Amino acid sequence: MIRIFNYFNSLSHAAADLFAKQAREAISRRGRFTVALAGGHTPQKTYQLLAQPPHLEQIQWSDVHAFWGDERCVAEDDERNNARMARMALLDRVPVKKDHIHPIRCAIDPKSAVSLYDELLHSSRCASDPALDLVFLGLGQDGHTASLFPHNPALHEKERWVAPVHTAEQELDRVTLTVPLLNAARCVVFLVSGRDKAPILKTVLEGPRGASQPPAQRIRPVSGELIWLVDAEAASLLDGGPLQLDNEFT
Ligand code: 6PG
Repeated sequence: MIRIFNYFNSLSHAAADLFAKQAREAISRRGRFTVALAGGHTPQKTYQLLAQPPHLEQIQWSDVHAFWGDERCVAEDDERNNARMARMALLDRVPVKKDHIHPIRCAIDPKSAVSLYDELLHSSRCASDPALDLVFLGLGQDGHTASLFPHNPALHEKERWVAPVHTAEQELDRVTLTVPLLNAARCVVFLVSGRDKAPILKTVLEGPRGASQPPAQRIRPVSGELIWLVDAEAASLLDGGPLQLDNEFT
């Protein structure tokens, strides 16, 4: 499903509402809500909204378990650190249990961080139920999502749930959840905003499919839901099709 919003603010409200709805359902059915948070700039506003009324009071934060879709291997107080952003915007502001917050700690030794995070995902209650309830993802201008970059071996990982990534362009090690784990999620939500994303969004959604195409095209949940929340600028090059224009918050 693709939902297009006139404004970034509307998109962020819709993303926060969706998080709240998924949390309510997961907690009432399974007693917990597992979410993989995204890095980048786009989800920051959504996280801030989640830390405010009504979501602040209405979400059963003690049953929320926070994971990350990817991490940049920098110090935890570095402003490029994805966990830092989510803590500042959301997790430090809501009554989530400290031991339910699972950042990918890869600043010092990315390789060990990969095995540790993989173990954590297997040994936590996710082992009997590998599906994350919700995954938030962003879209890079080169088509990457999480830290699954074009032509990077991590993109082709079939077995492991977590993989190391080195991107020469950014001289930065990263750690990412892999396509099989992301595609096992109950719900995957892409948040895409801004005119600079319009060309790649068009390629991902309307371009040819295939191995050489942008990594984001590989995200197709096996039995879960795939939702694109997109603002009008990012959607400006789309041909149309089954689009739903959402003016709810304009
Ligand atoms: C990261 C990401 C990455 C991000 C996209 C979009 O840590 O870099 O998780 O996949 O979501 O690059 O980033 P923006 O939201 O900043 O456009």
